[in-house]
Amino acid sequence: MATVLYPGSFDPLHLGHLDIIEQASRLFGKVVVAILHNPEKHGGVFSVDERIALIQTALESAKVKNVEIHAFPGLAVDAARVVQADFMVKGLRNSGDFEIEQQMAHTNFAVAGIPTVYLPCSPAYTSVSSRFIREIAQYGGDPSSMVPANVAHALKELFS
Ligand code: PNS
Repeated sequence: MATVLYPGSFDPLHLGHLDIIEQASRLFGKVVVAILHNPEKHGGVFSVDERIALIQTALESAKVKNVEIHAFPGLAVDAARVVQADFMVKGLRNSGDFEIEQQMAHTNFAVAGIPTVYLPCSPAYTSVSSRFIREIAQYGGDPSSMVPANVAHALKELFS
């Protein structure tokens, strides 16, 4: 059974991410959610430890099994090597994602021979983005329709 790496920033995890994790967990033997971060920069809303805890709780609530969560500094291909992933998984929302993800897939394959598999996100999540969720929460809006309940709660705590 294949081990796959699902890399991202996950700041914060949203329902589109959760959909891809659920799809991947049904298709593959093990899914490693990899929070990729630059240790010299914070810049995000949640710390890496907070992101791990939020993803863990959301996965428990959704009863998703065979998923591990790890944080890695540096390159996604190095994370894939560390966890011995057979390939990477990326979610596609639209053609804009495809343009970016195809370039990353080709680059990751060129530098490390690691293939990428794309999973289409469910139609309900084609416009969901962590960046917009952060903006909405920071300006006092309510992003709860786009994130798991525990993430909505954490955003509210942070910005209220
Ligand atoms: O959720 P995001 O922010 O869209 O995820 C982007 C991410 C983290 C997957 C991408 O930026 C990445 O792989 N960063 C790690 C650094 C790296 O491997 N760069 C080379 C990409 S070809």
